[in-house]
Amino acid sequence: MDPKLHIIISSTRPGRVGPAVGRWFHELARRHGGFDAELVDLIDFHLPLYDEAVHPRMQQYEHEHTRRWSASVDAADAFVFVMPEYNYSPPPALVNALAYVTREWHYKPAGFVGYGAGFSGGLRAVQAARLHVTTL
Ligand SMILES: Cc1cc2nc3c(=O)[nH]c(=O)nc-3n(C[C@H](O)[C@H](O)[C@H](O)COP(=O)(O)O)c2cc1C
Repeated sequence: MDPKLHIIISSTRPGRVGPAVGRWFHELARRHGGFDAELVDLIDFHLPLYDEAVHPRMQQYEHEHTRRWSASVDAADAFVFVMPEYNYSPPPALVNALAYVTREWHYKPAGFVGYGAGFSGGLRAVQAARLHVTTL
């Protein structure tokens, strides 16, 4: 059985280009053939600003949106974050989604597909996101 790769579209604003970039990378991953690659769109999880009372390492989730997100992250063996740069940083929806769960991310490899309006191609946002992801 191939490892399950979740390609996570991390921008949520109206008119975003994230889904086009995500579909492009999903096709590359499919052609690679070494993964069971699935496109996951953060927008489908309707995560509000982080609203759980108990630290996520306890996995005592109060809200259905957290349980759905937890099940999705838990199901993956590896991740690729498809992410733009906003103010030299990751998009706020991604920072929020990363914080919602903890153990579900543990010991799973992750990569990034960064993009932006400038010549850096999202480089600074990816550098900042690496700090979040390696902490998890
Ligand atoms: C609030 C905001 C801040 C941005 N800051 C940067 C930036 O620091 N560097 C950059 O290269 N592009 C920046 N951009 C441009 C975005 O990276 C570009 O519009 C990209 O398409 C956004 O991804 P999305 O369409 O999936 O939301 C910014 C865009 C927004 C909306």
